[in-house]
Amino acid sequence: MARMTSICAASALAIGLAAGAAQAKEVKIGVVLTYSGGAAQFGQQIDRGMNLFLKTNAAQLGDHTIKLIKRDSKRPGGDIAKNAVKELITREKVDMLAGFVFSPNAIASAPLATQGKVPMVVMNAGTAWIPSLSPYIARVSFTMWQSGYPMGLYSKNKLGCTSAAVGYTDYPPGKDSYAAFKTGFESVGGKVVDAIPMGGPRKVPDFTPWFQRVKDAKPTCFYVFVPAGNHASAVVKTFNDLGMGQAGIRLIGPGDITQDTKLQGMGDAAIGLTTIHHYSADYDTPTNKAFVAAWKKEYGADSTPDFMGVQGWDGMAAIFHVINTLNGDISADKAIEALKGWEFDSPRGPISIDPKTRDIVQNEHVHEVVKMGNRLGIKVVDTIPRVDDPCKKLKYGKCK
Ligand code: PHB
Repeated sequence: MARMTSICAASALAIGLAAGAAQAKEVKIGVVLTYSGGAAQFGQQIDRGMNLFLKTNAAQLGDHTIKLIKRDSKRPGGDIAKNAVKELITREKVDMLAGFVFSPNAIASAPLATQGKVPMVVMNAGTAWIPSLSPYIARVSFTMWQSGYPMGLYSKNKLGCTSAAVGYTDYPPGKDSYAAFKTGFESVGGKVVDAIPMGGPRKVPDFTPWFQRVKDAKPTCFYVFVPAGNHASAVVKTFNDLGMGQAGIRLIGPGDITQDTKLQGMGDAAIGLTTIHHYSADYDTPTNKAFVAAWKKEYGADSTPDFMGVQGWDGMAAIFHVINTLNGDISADKAIEALKGWEFDSPRGPISIDPKTRDIVQNEHVHEVVKMGNRLGIKVVDTIPRVDDPCKKLKYGKCK
């Protein structure tokens, strides 16, 4: 009898262990970000957002764990990211891919996600048609049309812009942002009088000759897209140095040009700038205040999240959702099914993934740069709720 009991106990233990072992999974995430060079600030934001979510919410994963395998895509060219993704899929055998600051890096990697059947969570790259490049892509960041198209409408209807020049960094998201703005602006009677490709994304150019050309053309407004960071600081500086505001031209753009992390360095020249975007650290909501406080506690009082930081946070929340829905057993088809229609209370507000396009749906806000005490801040002057991608809705170009 005693022997029987111990055999039963031993087999019960074995069954329990087997069940436990089957449940507790280490999920490998290949993270491809710009960790060095001029764009390291972007990689750091997304990395910090991902890690903060992971640290704060690890208990939600139960027995499962996440292993982040990080690779540096260095620059926007696509080639380094693509090689990193190849290695992550074939050698590291990652369960999911995440990151992708620059559109060319996501574009070059998309076919590998399809061939390798690995779900890919895009945490920045904003060219509208990126999710259509692979059935295994879901995007938690934004599309260039979510800011550019409403800015076309708003600037004509509310800001008094009748004619506009456009300056854009000459690569896919820049072309996209230009098309989005022009489509919106001209649909309500505005006229784009000049459109200037302003060099590539890698090096911050001297914007002076292009901005001088716009100053001479005297449009009422100047819509500019550059890939945030040091490019954005240089845009505001050049606009100010040339006295374009005093000449009666209003600078507008997507929120990439008023990025939280660059705002203080722009000085009072930035006051009055109007942009449209999906996030600022200054949003006055309980969820955002808690997020910003947690960020500062983790990374220092002088550190602030910006739109890329929140995208990293939300991207990790999406990964958690997949792991919990699939109980750690990741397959590409099931992961993407789990992400379709996913809803989340993000620090930026409510977000969801459109089941038809695998792209994000989110509120867009009209931002005005104002003085808040002795610092510059973002005041929300208008909100456009639940914006899905106008490019896909209008079936524009490659969004067909
Ligand atoms: C992009 O490459 O898609 C990109 C990069 C930086 C931005 C926006 C878009 O601020």
